[in-house]
Amino acid sequence: MSFAIAIDGPAASGKGTIARAISVHFGFHHLDTGLLYRATGARGGDPVQAAQSLTAEDLARSDLRSAQAGQAASRVAAIPEVRAALLDFQRRFAAQEPGAVLDGRDIGTVICPDAEVKLYVTASDQVRAHRRAAELGADPAQMLRELQERDRRDSERATAPLRPADDAVVLDTSELAIDQAVTRAIGIVDQVW
Ligand code: C5P
Repeated sequence: MSFAIAIDGPAASGKGTIARAISVHFGFHHLDTGLLYRATGARGGDPVQAAQSLTAEDLARSDLRSAQAGQAASRVAAIPEVRAALLDFQRRFAAQEPGAVLDGRDIGTVICPDAEVKLYVTASDQVRAHRRAAELGADPAQMLRELQERDRRDSERATAPLRPADDAVVLDTSELAIDQAVTRAIGIVDQVW
């Protein structure tokens, strides 16, 4: 039996760092599903065709972390056919032994509705903007606008909008150092694993 951990939340909430740390701690596979949408947006051309033919090289592009790639990702992510094209890969990834951690926006609600553990990681807009600005060496005020625009698009889209699953544990990292957030998240998984 494999063990799936779904970690969702808005941009720069700390979910990626937490997902990676959990995967190392438990020896599970880890998929940053945002990369699939970033790579789809970065390919240009028809996004549905891009999503259907993503390669390992697409996912290894060095420009996927930029704010522009994030905006392009959230635009293609609103297209139902793009999401449908990426669904099987994510479900198969989640079924790997001994377990898998997937982080994104719709893992607990759509991709893995039966995940053994669901976390919804969040933080205040200001804290998230400062974290992302420090990471990218960008202006916090501009980052705040960028994150809010992306969160609005991700939350308001009709297909698989960003929202906590009804059975997700909400972890607010606004007041936590990253190692504290990781310790809490591991504690939550430990109660089930
Ligand atoms: O997590 P990250 O910031 O890399 O995601 C980039 C964009 O990809 C998000 O803003 C969102 O629009 C989209 N995304 C999604 N569903 C996921 C993961 C990411 O719609 N599971």
